[in-house]
Amino acid sequence: MNIRQLSAHEKPPMELLLLADPSQKIVAEYLQRGDCFVAEIRHQLIGIHVLLPTRPYTIEIVNIAVDERYQGKGVGKILLQHAIETAKAMGYTTIEIGTGNSSIGQLALYQKCGFRIIGVDPNFFLRHYEQDIIENGIRCTDMIRLSQDI
Ligand code: COA
Repeated sequence: MNIRQLSAHEKPPMELLLLADPSQKIVAEYLQRGDCFVAEIRHQLIGIHVLLPTRPYTIEIVNIAVDERYQGKGVGKILLQHAIETAKAMGYTTIEIGTGNSSIGQLALYQKCGFRIIGVDPNFFLRHYEQDIIENGIRCTDMIRLSQDI
């Protein structure tokens, strides 16, 4: 597997991006400002992460997704480690990520990769998403914010 930055003339793989974020509008908005990195196997795109600078010395992973056929095989962990190393090389000292209160697997993965919970943005998903999101039998209402010093 190879991870590389998507170049400006390549079309971002929306089907992957929408796995992590159901809002096409929000995805399109951060794609304009962020750096997109893709994981590929034999020229097939199977994973993605997007890094967006948010504050001085702080960058956020605003999207991370792995093709359903390749999930649960360690690709997400490699993408997260790549995001952390890339942010470090770019000179950032803090990396952040946010996920839904219902995203149990993601919360486990991010903490295994060194992120700590630093806050909650109550009602984030009710404010920004029109459709109901249910995962693991839990309504997704609040954004759990995680951070890591790098
Ligand atoms: N409890 C404990 N650990 C759990 C867990 C649970 N319920 N669910 C998952 N995990 C752990 C796994 O055990 C594994 O850790 P390990 O390597 O120590 O065993 C890790 O989380 C998953 O790792 P990995 O196989 O690398 O993840 P992945 O390739 O499936 O990628 C996502 C993870 C989230 C990127 C992928 O599932 C995905 O694309 N999901 C849809 C999009 C999405 O939700 N993106 C994030 C939005 S915030």
